[in-house]
Amino acid sequence: MSPRNFAFREIPSPDAGLLEVVIAGLNQEPKRLPCSLLYDEAGSRLFDAICDTDEYYITRTEVALLERHGPQIAEWIGPASVVVELGAGNLQKARLLLQHFPSPVTYVPVDISKEHLRQSALEFAEALNHVKVQAICADFHQADAIRSVLPLEGRRVLFFPGSTIGNLEPDEALQFLRQSQQILGNKGMVLVGVDLKKDASILNAAYNDAAGITALFETNILVRLKRELGAALDPQSFVYKGFYNEPLGRVEMYLVSLREQTVRIGPRQFPFKTGERIHLENSYKYSVSEFQALAAKAGLLPLDTWVDADRLFSLHLLECQAPR
Ligand SMILES: C[S@@+](CC[C@H](N)C(=O)[O-])C[C@H]1O[C@@H](n2cnc3c(N)ncnc32)[C@H](O)[C@@H]1O
Repeated sequence: MSPRNFAFREIPSPDAGLLEVVIAGLNQEPKRLPCSLLYDEAGSRLFDAICDTDEYYITRTEVALLERHGPQIAEWIGPASVVVELGAGNLQKARLLLQHFPSPVTYVPVDISKEHLRQSALEFAEALNHVKVQAICADFHQADAIRSVLPLEGRRVLFFPGSTIGNLEPDEALQFLRQSQQILGNKGMVLVGVDLKKDASILNAAYNDAAGITALFETNILVRLKRELGAALDPQSFVYKGFYNEPLGRVEMYLVSLREQTVRIGPRQFPFKTGERIHLENSYKYSVSEFQALAAKAGLLPLDTWVDADRLFSLHLLECQAPR
């Protein structure tokens, strides 16, 4: 039986289905697939395993920032809040944060990975029984639909950790921060985790762990296409390649075809040359001032910013500039 402080709902996406999205992506030149497709149930578990690797400093550094500054963040936000986490993953970071929040507090984790979200949210509700958990399986770009199911009372806070904002192009991130304020309303706040620019060797190692878990995570998208769309392809005929593109300030992630081949998905055929790539993800890195400038353009002003001693990662608490 579910705990009394737990609710779960799904907001279906009005956009095209998986087959249409995949065909549209592979028809592009160069070929691409959206990174949200990486997160089926197996993908979410593999992402959790990446977070535990020695090379992936992002999770442990952000966790340490939340452990250290959680009480201060809770003080800034105050009582009776509604915390909406976009791309909540395994909810580990919200657990650390919300233990400092006094009751009543509502937590709304939003994620597209349905069963992983349901399981993580159930465990969360059992562990933190002073928090009302209202999990939503949805695409986090659906700001209007998410807003329409939120409780009306309380200060709304958007929590967007894990450098997920780095997966958006900078102009998309700006648009996203603007749109997100539709969820917030008066006196709303945003707490966002942003990965910092740094030495290429640290970034290249973080996205190429020695155990090969990142490679498994990225190639799992092909396993998903086989399983869910009956795609005729051999996942072993592609390899993962990820590297820091310093001039563009982003890590780029691809699958590379090991041979000349034709992949069949639904009614379509996609020819690949040897070495041809499918673009899967970018992960943009910012300096603190670059990100603050982006947030200010979106109408969000810094209340406080926390950075670890090695200047690997930043956590920004921002406030809506004007009531919306
Ligand atoms: C980089 S992981 C971060 C997970 C977690 N927030 C953390 O800090 O470790 C990105 C998360 O966002 C989710 N996600 C990616 N694209 C999404 C989308 N368009 N809508 C909803 N969730 C999405 C994924 O399922 C995944 O859990």
